[in-house]
Amino acid sequence: MITEEQIREKLAGVNYPGFSRDIISFGLVKGIEVSGDDVVVKISMATKDAAIPKEIHDKADAALKEIAGIGKVTLDFDITDPPEPVAGTPASASAGQSSIPGIKKIIAVGSGKGGVGKSTVSTNLAIALQRSGAKVGLCDCDLYGPSVAMMLGATDEQPLANENNEILPIEAHGIKAISMGFLISDDSPVIVRGPLATRYVQQFLRQCVWGDLDYLILDLPPGTGDIQLTIVQTVALDGAVIVTTPQEIALIDARKASAMFEKVNVPILGIVENMAWFECNHGEKYPIFGDGGGEKEAERLGVPLLAQIPLDVETRYRCDRGEPVAVLDPETDEISKIFRGLAGEVGDIVNA
Ligand SMILES: Nc1ncnc2c1ncn2[C@@H]1O[C@H](COP(=O)(O)OP(=O)(O)O)[C@@H](O)[C@H]1O
Ligand SMILES: [Mg+2]
Repeated sequence: MITEEQIREKLAGVNYPGFSRDIISFGLVKGIEVSGDDVVVKISMATKDAAIPKEIHDKADAALKEIAGIGKVTLDFDITDPPEPVAGTPASASAGQSSIPGIKKIIAVGSGKGGVGKSTVSTNLAIALQRSGAKVGLCDCDLYGPSVAMMLGATDEQPLANENNEILPIEAHGIKAISMGFLISDDSPVIVRGPLATRYVQQFLRQCVWGDLDYLILDLPPGTGDIQLTIVQTVALDGAVIVTTPQEIALIDARKASAMFEKVNVPILGIVENMAWFECNHGEKYPIFGDGGGEKEAERLGVPLLAQIPLDVETRYRCDRGEPVAVLDPETDEISKIFRGLAGEVGDIVNA
């Protein structure tokens, strides 16, 4: 007697081509019917690339035939076209993508490597956009190392739920924000793994009362794994900003991140080179992590180098204290001015 559980288990070993994620957790398997020893599996996906369903078909078929005593295996594919990318509008490449009602532009800030300053850039970019007159939300998608709550000086805030069980984001420095950091205390480790973690992120994105926003900034976790993929697949991103430091080791990871965005047709808005140099008191600039990495990478991708941010003690200190540099007057603060410039560039590109 074949059980649905056996089928599910086998299909969970079949990865989506090119991804480290399987077709079950991607939600592509829409139905499993077992009658006696025969099985019918319904698989649904949006793709134009006929090689993808073919590969999934062959792998799934082979996997299911490993089950002892299995009879006839029928894999029933429902393939739809992904929405056409139109010039100047965001591309929605994959199954299940849709924009969030009320939100005009959704922008992800990613990198391959941790510690390069994604959260610093996300938070300051969000504030700088708000200071330029926009309504802005910031979603901390880094469940394992959430830092947005701290950077906004809002670790004591508790987001509430409304009567519909939707999460109300907190407000700090004029922006709306949600972060795992609001929902857990500092010393309790987040013990959410793969599928559960991605569900949390989806909930943040979809069950949060964002209201009307001009921009929602997503601070992605480092890496190019399941969570990043889920995020870039479940909302229609208008673009991605890639943060890197100038040295080769960070650039290698930045390349992986940009490849991930390209794969799912998310336009890369440009590169932010963080910790680009250190300026000593005498005005001399030292390229601590190397020189020109961001520019080279931008050139390689054919995208603009959106900003170069120096390694700066005040920037670090202010983030730790919950008063990011972007709150300062850009007329008098050099780094605040850089973030204001970044916000202007990003706004121009996604609204072009
Ligand atoms: N330009 C900068 N100058 C000084 N410190 C920085 C700068 N950018 C980031 N940092 C610090 O580096 C650490 C890592 O930055 P963070 O934004 O948390 O990186 P990520 O989100 O990529 O892991 C933080 O302590 C942050 O304050
Ligand atoms: Mg971070």
